[in-house]
Amino acid sequence: MNMPLTPEQPAVWNDPEHHIFKVSRRSFTDTQVFRDEYNRIFDKCWLYLGHESELVKPGDFVARIVAKRSILFTRDAQNKVNAFFNACPHRGAQVCRERKGNAKSFQCFYHGWVFGADGTLKSQPGSECYPADFNANGAANLVPVPRLDSYRGFWFLCFDRNVQSLSDYLANAKEWIDIIADQSEVGMTLVGGTQEYQIRANWKLLTENSIDGYHAINTHATYVDYLKNMQGSMSPVPFEGTGYDLGNGHAVIEYKAPWGRPVAQWIPLWGEEGKIELAKVRARLVERFGEARADRIATLNRNMFIFPNLVLNDIMAITVRTYFPTAPDAMQISAWALAPKDESAWARKFRLSNFLEFLGPGGFATPDDVEALEQCQRGYEAMKEAPWNDMSKGMIKEKVNYDDELQMRVFWNEWQRRTQATALGKGDA
Ligand code: FES
Ligand code: FE
Repeated sequence: MNMPLTPEQPAVWNDPEHHIFKVSRRSFTDTQVFRDEYNRIFDKCWLYLGHESELVKPGDFVARIVAKRSILFTRDAQNKVNAFFNACPHRGAQVCRERKGNAKSFQCFYHGWVFGADGTLKSQPGSECYPADFNANGAANLVPVPRLDSYRGFWFLCFDRNVQSLSDYLANAKEWIDIIADQSEVGMTLVGGTQEYQIRANWKLLTENSIDGYHAINTHATYVDYLKNMQGSMSPVPFEGTGYDLGNGHAVIEYKAPWGRPVAQWIPLWGEEGKIELAKVRARLVERFGEARADRIATLNRNMFIFPNLVLNDIMAITVRTYFPTAPDAMQISAWALAPKDESAWARKFRLSNFLEFLGPGGFATPDDVEALEQCQRGYEAMKEAPWNDMSKGMIKEKVNYDDELQMRVFWNEWQRRTQATALGKGDA
C-alpha cells in the first residue's frame, strides 16, 4: 500500500488485497485530463452515432455532434448507411444545417456546392472554372468517417482507422444489446424526440451514476414514495440483482425492481388492458426464447454502460443516452426512448410517459441525479484537502450485488489504462 499524502496527479488507486479502490478528485477537474480524454479516449474508441430507425428511407439524414465533430449520418439512394464529416470540402462550412430530415442532395450555403446523400460532389457554381477532372480522385466529396459499423441497429463510428472491430470492441456487451434488440421480432425504433440537457459536472460522474444501483433508494426517494402511494404501482418484488464486467470497460447491472416494465413484467400492474397485453407479449417471448431467457428479457431491469459514453437503460422504458464533456466540469447529454416497432398503442403510451416522467430532464429521476452530480463536482473544490473518491463497495465479497461498485471500478480501470493517468497499486477490479 503506497498512498501519497496529497495526490498531485489524476490517479486510480487500486489495491484489491486491502479492498481499496479510490479515484483522485483531480481526475474530475483537471484541464489536462480533459484534453487527454479527447485525445486518448474519444479519438480512439468506438462512439455511438445513431440508431438505424433514424434512417428509414433513402435520403433520410441526421446531423449530430460526436466528440466535437459535426457528423452527417445518411441513408443514400442505394440504401447504404453513411457517415461524413459535415464540413464542406471547399472551405469547411457545415454542409447540412438541419438537425434531421429527408433530402435528395445537400447544398452548402456558402458557395453552393451540392452533394448527394452518398457524399459525392454533384455540382458546383462556376464549374467551368475548374478542370474537367477536378474531382476525379474524389477529393471534393464529403469525407467519410474513418470507421463506421453497426450492431443490432446501433451505429457506431471511430475516428481511429486502426481500431479493433466493433464486434470485438463491444465484447460481452453484445449479449446485453441482444436482450434489448430481441424485445421485438420486427425491430426496435427510437420514438418521440430527443432529450437534450447540460449538467455542470464532469462527464465521468454521469457514467458512474448511470450504472449505480447504490444511489436509487436515497436519491430517488420521492419517486419511490410516489409509487408506494399510487395503489397498484408497486409490486412486492424486492430490489435484487448482480453487476457484471462485460470487458473493455463496459459493465451492466441486471436486477429485479418493484416497478412495472413495458415489455412483459410477470405481474402486470396497470389495469386490465395492460394485463392482456403483457400476457400476450410474455407468451410470445417464451415461444421465441424459452422460459429462462423470456423471463430475463421481461422481468429484469438493466443499466448498461458501453465505454466511454453510451448508456442503455432498460428499466421502466429503454433510454439510449450519450454525452460528451464540454469542459472539465460540464457535459452535454442527448437521450432517446427506444421501443419495439410493433408494440401496442397502450404500451407505447406507458413507455413514453415513463421516459418523460421518470427519465426525462424534468422527470422524477433526472433532476435528482443532476443535483447529486453537481453537488459532487462542487465537493471537488476541496480536492487538495480531501483528495479521494471511494469506490470500494463490495470488494470484500465473492458475489457482486447490483448495488455494489464493481461497475465503476470496471470503468475506471479502463479509463486509467487509456489515459495513462497515474496508477497506484495494482490488480483488477
Ligand atoms: Fe461550401 Fe464554399 S464552403 S461551397
Ligand atoms: Fe438516478
